[in-house]
Amino acid sequence: MVSQLTSVVAAIGLWHAMPSAAAIIPPSVLTADASIGACKLAGDAVLGFDLSEGVVPAGSSVVRGWMMFVDFPDAEAAGYTAQGVYDNSVAKANAWYQTSSYGRLSLNVSADVDHIYRMAKPSTAYDWANHGTSYNQMVFIEDALDAYMQVHGIAEAADLKASLPEMDVLYVVTPPSTPNFDVSYGSRYAAQTRSHNGTDGNVVEGAEVSKGYVTFGTGFFREETKSDGSGVNPAKIFVHETAHTLGLPDYYPMGFGLLEGEYVGGFSIMGSIGEQAPDMFAFDKWRMGWLDDSAVHCVTEKGTSTTHVLQPLEADGATGGVRAVMIPTSNTTALVAEARITKGVDASFCGVGVLLYTIDTKVRSGYGPVRVVNTLESELRWCGGYSLNEAPLSFIRYRSPSKTIKDLGITITLIEHDESINTWTIKVDYI
Ligand SMILES: *[C@@H]1O[C@H](CO)[C@@H](O)[C@H](O)[C@H]1NC(C)=O
Ligand SMILES: *[C@@H]1O[C@H](CO)[C@@H](O)[C@H](O)[C@H]1NC(C)=O
Ligand SMILES: *[C@@H]1O[C@H](CO)[C@@H](O)[C@H](O)[C@H]1NC(C)=O
Repeated sequence: MVSQLTSVVAAIGLWHAMPSAAAIIPPSVLTADASIGACKLAGDAVLGFDLSEGVVPAGSSVVRGWMMFVDFPDAEAAGYTAQGVYDNSVAKANAWYQTSSYGRLSLNVSADVDHIYRMAKPSTAYDWANHGTSYNQMVFIEDALDAYMQVHGIAEAADLKASLPEMDVLYVVTPPSTPNFDVSYGSRYAAQTRSHNGTDGNVVEGAEVSKGYVTFGTGFFREETKSDGSGVNPAKIFVHETAHTLGLPDYYPMGFGLLEGEYVGGFSIMGSIGEQAPDMFAFDKWRMGWLDDSAVHCVTEKGTSTTHVLQPLEADGATGGVRAVMIPTSNTTALVAEARITKGVDASFCGVGVLLYTIDTKVRSGYGPVRVVNTLESELRWCGGYSLNEAPLSFIRYRSPSKTIKDLGITITLIEHDESINTWTIKVDYI
């Protein structure tokens, strides 16, 4: 293939010294709008670029939510107030979204803090510990809405709708004392009342009260702060489950006895809720409409060597600069480079550098659709719980400034880190 190699050095925002024999192709050829489509990977509703099946369309500015609190005959609410739980989660989750989305998405979540609704059935009715199937979750939501209707003397679904605020997401909180109810779920499927027999004898179909729902298990109440300031807390769990309603998958391994950080280390709140670098991957920010096409360089031409100046993912503002370089390797796979620094929701992060990860939209949620590329020669454990936290390209000792991924024919090399303006220049060699 050497004969077809054209040595092209194109720099965006910064021209680099280039071999005198190099053919110069204007940057516009490589970053033309025509090629950006190749980076909008095909895939299903949670893995592909298109997130239109989430509770709000990509680019929406607000997610409207409403929160209700329930308990069970066998697990009564005790030791907390609904107002306290609301105050300790919603405002901080909203601030998290505003920071990560560059002010493009906020949460508007109200709550019924005056009631704890008693479910008719015991907590054991839902088989929650066995990953409460989506059927059990659906029944759980129907029962919670029934409990609400009973307390307020509401018989018809239409009257229920009228008594609730318009919402995208219904949040239901269970008490911290519930045995075997640890897990929380976020769903982009509608919350509905159950069908029932109307007074005329005809079945009245369940009415939709929200486009998605979240059920908080007892894990929602977990709160820890690690020495570096990271850690799990209710606000971050709120963020994670809400992101599922928007359409995002899980990036941690489902079972298999693997470490939580096996695939993505401490990156993305969809990979690890309590680790160092919970900011959403640039690909996810892009598909949620938090970044524009202009923030992504899509390198589609084989036989090219291009340079790109990255602004840190966490830098303020969605506009101004490139936040990700993507090299699509098929219509469902890509390699991505993005610069990560200690800022914003990544304020505890210590593995600063240019993060590389692969995306494969044919791999299911929980099976590693996104995998951080390990650039390290040996394990490092200076930055939090996972060696992968230090995988970003860096000039720092023991870290690597360059990585070749032979299978993909791609080498990414860190050329310069301008500390005064915090930009990262990388070279992409795609053979
Ligand atoms: C939040 O929603 C309520 C009820 O729909 C509305 O009155 C209020 O203006 C909204 N607040 C913001 C900041 O959007
Ligand atoms: C409706 O009524 C029929 C006959 O009384 C009963 O068999 C059925 O279970 C009822 N369905 C619901 C959803 O209550
Ligand atoms: C993706 O590529 C495969 C094979 O290369 C092709 O069959 C499929 O139609 C493409 N899908 C889209 C959405 O372009």
